[in-house]
Amino acid sequence: MKIAATASPRERQEKLGQFLTASPVADFMASMFGPLSRTVRLLDAGAGAGALTAAFVSQCCEKRDGVRSIEATLYELDGQILDALAVTMCECERRCSDAGIRFTFTIHPADFIQEMSSRLAGDLFGNLPPAFDAAIANPPYRKISTDSGERRALRSVGVETSNLYTGFIALIQRLLVPGGQLVGITPRSFCNGPYFRPFREDFLSQLELRRLHVFDSRKAAFREDSVLQENIIFHAVKGRHQPREMIVSSSSGERGDDITETVFPFAEIVHPHDAEKFIHIPSTTGHATAKETMDGLSASLASLGVTVSTGRVVDFRLKDALRKQPERGTVPLLYPCHFNGGTVHWPKLEARKPNAILDNAETRPWLVPSGIYLLTKRFTSKEERRRLVACMFDPDQVKTEWVGFENHLNYFHANGHGLERHLATGLYAFLNSTVVDQFFRRFSGHTQVNATDLRTLTYPDRDTLQAMGREVTTLDLTQDEIDQLVTKHLHAR
Ligand SMILES: C[S@@+](CC[C@H](N)C(=O)[O-])C[C@H]1O[C@@H](n2cnc3c(N)ncnc32)[C@H](O)[C@@H]1O
Repeated sequence: MKIAATASPRERQEKLGQFLTASPVADFMASMFGPLSRTVRLLDAGAGAGALTAAFVSQCCEKRDGVRSIEATLYELDGQILDALAVTMCECERRCSDAGIRFTFTIHPADFIQEMSSRLAGDLFGNLPPAFDAAIANPPYRKISTDSGERRALRSVGVETSNLYTGFIALIQRLLVPGGQLVGITPRSFCNGPYFRPFREDFLSQLELRRLHVFDSRKAAFREDSVLQENIIFHAVKGRHQPREMIVSSSSGERGDDITETVFPFAEIVHPHDAEKFIHIPSTTGHATAKETMDGLSASLASLGVTVSTGRVVDFRLKDALRKQPERGTVPLLYPCHFNGGTVHWPKLEARKPNAILDNAETRPWLVPSGIYLLTKRFTSKEERRRLVACMFDPDQVKTEWVGFENHLNYFHANGHGLERHLATGLYAFLNSTVVDQFFRRFSGHTQVNATDLRTLTYPDRDTLQAMGREVTTLDLTQDEIDQLVTKHLHAR
């Protein structure tokens, strides 16, 4: 890539995709590495003035956890920043020497894409690609057109990508030894942009994603230049087995700012059967607030005189008693398919599931007397907006003396009987609130909500729930209306 000598600083910066990392972010990135070997061969591709290597060195010097030697390799194309880079490296040398760590560095004033593509493709006879134990990167961002030199070079090593940053990451990945670590800060676009699918495939098949960090604000103040770009930091390890769980953290990007961390099952970040391999980044900010709110609640379900049980009708055991249509001698049988917003839609003749069950001596032990019950689904689909979906069974709506709740449901009851109305509607609002949903997502990564989870949850006290319930005049509430109601009562306590 050539830059005209007459180019303005802004033009140069854009051509080079040059945005330097502020030191709090560089320090944070350096802190994300896992244990390192005694000798670390470190790669800093697109090194700028060396902020990332400096942060890495500081971290090793401060932690003193066994790193004895750092061999830094730096690539930087901008001739005008090389002096600053050399100064930073001398500074690193001094810091390391004080800490008893050997530090050597090589600055390559060269095009990383061209040079590494050639070496990886084996074009430079006898010049094998180097190997690294660790890489820290804030690669340049710029679109690269199909016929550009960068694109051709990348193509020669099987990398098809439309932005410099993904090209850098794809090459860096190839240079890591198994178990080698990469901490990178890049735009978020690769996580779900349709054009980045081949990149995601390449990335996820060779790198194990260990942690993602996002910034709460789009304007996260970590770029000295005011670039409105949503960025992400990731920590990944060269290897082919994705972890079962990974950390997603977030912060505002200011120095000394709180970091919220949440553990998610990997399958929730990259859905196992997703051909697009989207990297879903769950929001974590609400989780901390949800935890605070839930910590402030003290009632247990038992203290409210309420029990939650799993629906007793296991349909395959009572096959002969099941009926598609209600008929004489049957009572309603409810499945998750009968959930209809806040209430139940019964019978649902178009559904595949039975709607009724015979009421006889054999089935009676599995039925409950009619009353107001709150029902929750035990399994929700990933597409469902909330993890916990509660609806109300109301005898005013479905007239019956007995009712069967199928095993895929949990039901809230008062010692085997229905609940008092306002307590039930209060619980309905609480269980369907965003606070409870986000609290659930913190610890229950899977889409299953067990009766035990509901039993161990903390609840507002009876008075608060009843006060909430009195205000629920219809169950047909929007999420906002539910949240406003719940927040108002929880904060009024
Ligand atoms: C986003 S900046 C980051 C700089 C530095 N790592 C930091 O975090 O402060 C990317 C750097 O890559 C350099 N660069 C751009 N294209 C390059 C290339 N093909 N080879 C090597 N360096 C390049 C730019 O000059 C710029 O300094």
